[in-house]
Amino acid sequence: MANITTIGVQYVIWAFTLLLLMTYGEMTFSPLIPPSYPLAVRTPYLSAWLPGHMALNLPSSSPQFWFGNNLTWSVIARVDGHPYTLFGVSNELDGSEGATVIGGRFTSTHSIFTLTAGPRNFTLDFLSPVSPKNLLRQSLPLSYLTVMVGVGHGDVQVYSDIDSSWTGQADNAAWNFTIKDDTYLYTMSPNEGDTFVENDKEQALWGETVYATRSSAPATFSYASGPSFDIRSQFVHNGSLRRSNAPWSADGVVGFAHDLGVPENEIGVTFVIGHVREEVIDYVGNIQTGYYRTVYPDTISAVSHFLDDYDEAASESVTMDLLVQQGGESSYGVNYSDILALSLRQIYGGIELVVPRETMNVSDAQAFIKEISSNGNINTVDVIYATFPALYTLSPNYIKLLLRPVFNYMGSRLYKEPFAVHDLGTHYPNATGHVPDGQKMPIEECGNIIILTYAYQIASGEDDFTLAYASLLKQYAEYLQKDGKYPTKQLSLNDALGEMANQTNLAMKAATALTLYGKLTHQQNYFIMGKSIADAIYKDRLGTDPNGTYFTMQYGKDTWFLVYNHYADVLFNADIFPKEVYEITSRFYPSVRKPAGVALNGDIDWGQTNWQGFVAATVYDEARTMLIADMHAYISNGLNQAPFSDRYWVQDNNVDQTNTAGHDHAFRGRPTLGSHFALMALHGGDRWQGIGDD
Ligand SMILES: *[C@@H]1O[C@H](CO)[C@@H](O)[C@H](O)[C@H]1NC(C)=O
Ligand SMILES: *[C@@H]1O[C@H](CO)[C@@H](O)[C@H](O)[C@H]1NC(C)=O
Ligand SMILES: *[C@@H]1O[C@H](CO)[C@@H](O)[C@H](O)[C@H]1NC(C)=O
Ligand SMILES: *[C@@H]1O[C@H](CO)[C@@H](O)[C@H](O)[C@H]1NC(C)=O
Ligand SMILES: *[C@@H]1O[C@H](CO)[C@@H](O)[C@H](O)[C@H]1NC(C)=O
Ligand SMILES: *[C@@H]1O[C@H](CO)[C@@H](O)[C@H](O)[C@H]1NC(C)=O
Ligand SMILES: *[C@@H]1O[C@H](CO)[C@@H](O)[C@H](O)[C@H]1NC(C)=O
Ligand SMILES: *[C@@H]1O[C@H](CO)[C@@H](O)[C@H](O)[C@H]1NC(C)=O
Ligand SMILES: *[C@@H]1O[C@H](CO)[C@@H](O)[C@H](O)[C@H]1NC(C)=O
Repeated sequence: MANITTIGVQYVIWAFTLLLLMTYGEMTFSPLIPPSYPLAVRTPYLSAWLPGHMALNLPSSSPQFWFGNNLTWSVIARVDGHPYTLFGVSNELDGSEGATVIGGRFTSTHSIFTLTAGPRNFTLDFLSPVSPKNLLRQSLPLSYLTVMVGVGHGDVQVYSDIDSSWTGQADNAAWNFTIKDDTYLYTMSPNEGDTFVENDKEQALWGETVYATRSSAPATFSYASGPSFDIRSQFVHNGSLRRSNAPWSADGVVGFAHDLGVPENEIGVTFVIGHVREEVIDYVGNIQTGYYRTVYPDTISAVSHFLDDYDEAASESVTMDLLVQQGGESSYGVNYSDILALSLRQIYGGIELVVPRETMNVSDAQAFIKEISSNGNINTVDVIYATFPALYTLSPNYIKLLLRPVFNYMGSRLYKEPFAVHDLGTHYPNATGHVPDGQKMPIEECGNIIILTYAYQIASGEDDFTLAYASLLKQYAEYLQKDGKYPTKQLSLNDALGEMANQTNLAMKAATALTLYGKLTHQQNYFIMGKSIADAIYKDRLGTDPNGTYFTMQYGKDTWFLVYNHYADVLFNADIFPKEVYEITSRFYPSVRKPAGVALNGDIDWGQTNWQGFVAATVYDEARTMLIADMHAYISNGLNQAPFSDRYWVQDNNVDQTNTAGHDHAFRGRPTLGSHFALMALHGGDRWQGIGDD
């Protein structure tokens, strides 16, 4: 109890301070202070964040892995011989002072913070590229930190370091140092990790952590590794490091220092942080490696290329930021574009692009997605479904890259069920097959597979996928034909609700998928069947209250449900449900809104932004405004610290007093935020077409 109170008090003080400071105009955060800023978010194992409130004290902040454990990553600068901590220095450093935070902002690809250190301003620009059509760039498990030095007076040195917290085995690791041309690279690895094994915080215990930078002026560049206090003191006192490497120690850091002299114009130094695994995924015994390794087969060449690529990656990020901002704003205003901007890196950062290590054949490229934080499952079909509106909008090819290993697995002798699989394995990166007692969601996944295939075909204009897997698609359509109208007792993707029979939302998915299957294969009978289930649900009131004013969770029950499974009807103008359906839901949801939003159903106190995102695209006017405003309020209310958590309390939960409206409830850092793009997707698929093609 004491703890909880303390936390509560801290929040109040923080909110108050923020208000005050913003009133005085000393710090500006735009567009809002999120629960957590993405810093380096590129893969499930390169996923570094900064809890939003820490941006106010950036010099002494501590970045975190998505799981919530601290990562050491610091930036210190000297101006005219005076040392200032800029970022990530939690201990006192003799003679140094914290720079003054001016503010911060985020875009879809950057998190940017500015500080004043004596006579100069500094900007820390964390860039995690999202490069939907450039598979090479997107597949590099690396991210940029650029420290920009503003105009002013005084000579400047910039220092940055990391430690072995990034390796997942902070107390037992090793490091190496490499120089190639003008690229300087430290790598760190755990001593006792095994391939494909994670620690209890889900950090990878194989592969290597990378920290690198580049300098073409060896006289003004230095590096060193050794005990943190020693290395940082070298910089603080001398503005340079000894160019020597000590044996690894538990308190050790690897650091770089750039002496920039007296810069007259704005100037930047770039650091590269990364986590590289040669063996990325085990796909039923067939080891997959990073797509980029077909061109850059080792770490130093990949890192060196990433540094070469900086200007292009940065320029592409500007295009992406603009697309997300304008696409979001023109779809539903700045609240909506803020939500998209905060979601984008998290979505793509849950996916990795690979090729078979043995053949290195890029035509066999595949993508794998991790169900981060909920249970770690790999290529969960309903997680791909939840993600698909972003993929449909920006990179429809990813739907194919993610589903190909799923289809190939379901078509093999390894999988025997008549319905589509839930996942390819219980824990990323082991796509070693669905375990017999693993989750099953027959209607859900059969429907998802068909809808996703349809989405890919519409957005890409290609029918290759539909043709290649025609017999499996037919099998799943037949399954839906048989069981779709009256779903037996089973899970839907809201597995927290348990197994239930006759779930209205599931039948809606079946109706939608059957109709789309009919369109996809030009078979009128499926089209008619899908529509007839839709009519039974709504017109015959099978899945509504007797007066047809809302949809129920189950047939014949009273509890209402936030239905989202007819989204594809709207997206594809498929004419499955009558227009009235969207009118009644538009009227109904505002009438059941709780203090912080609409719950998933009438019996519970939590909602999920990913389902709200789908629904926002199917309702009109007041209901849409309400859903977007609630999601926006949730990410800007200052109550949370986790990487975007999609499940949150919409009203106080009496069972546990700490679970209050607007607080996150479960899940962090999941790629399922793709559905936030559902509204933008209504304006057309493949919006990145032609931009940044490689
Ligand atoms: C993580 O970092 C924060 C901020 O520096 C610090 O307050 C906290 O004690 C650290 N947690 C651990 C477990 O070291
Ligand atoms: C630093 O930035 C602030 C806010 O933009 C500005 O007012 C100030 O003049 C800048 N200081 C220097 C030295 O450029
Ligand atoms: C350091 O380099 C040696 C020799 O190339 C290699 O065997 C070792 O695995 C490397 N260790 C790390 C931590 O990268
Ligand atoms: C992946 O499978 C290997 C071999 O069974 C196992 O040692 C490892 O712990 C698994 N990894 C995860 C993250 O579950
Ligand atoms: C600073 O540099 C001088 C000269 O190279 C060296 O003797 C001294 O040890 C350095 N001080 C620190 C704290 O590294
Ligand atoms: C690469 O993969 C494609 C698609 O699977 C296949 O058609 C092609 O023959 C492969 N190329 C080589 C050199 O194996
Ligand atoms: C499903 O609903 C139908 C129609 O209301 C009913 O006949 C059937 O018994 C229900 N199934 C289950 C398992 O409750
Ligand atoms: C259904 O509609 C009728 C007629 O408008 C009304 O009297 C009745 O109260 C409604 N029932 C419910 C449960 O809303
Ligand atoms: C935007 O979201 C905020 C909550 O963060 C809300 O107060 C405001 O009304 C919303 N604006 C619009 C235009 O809906």
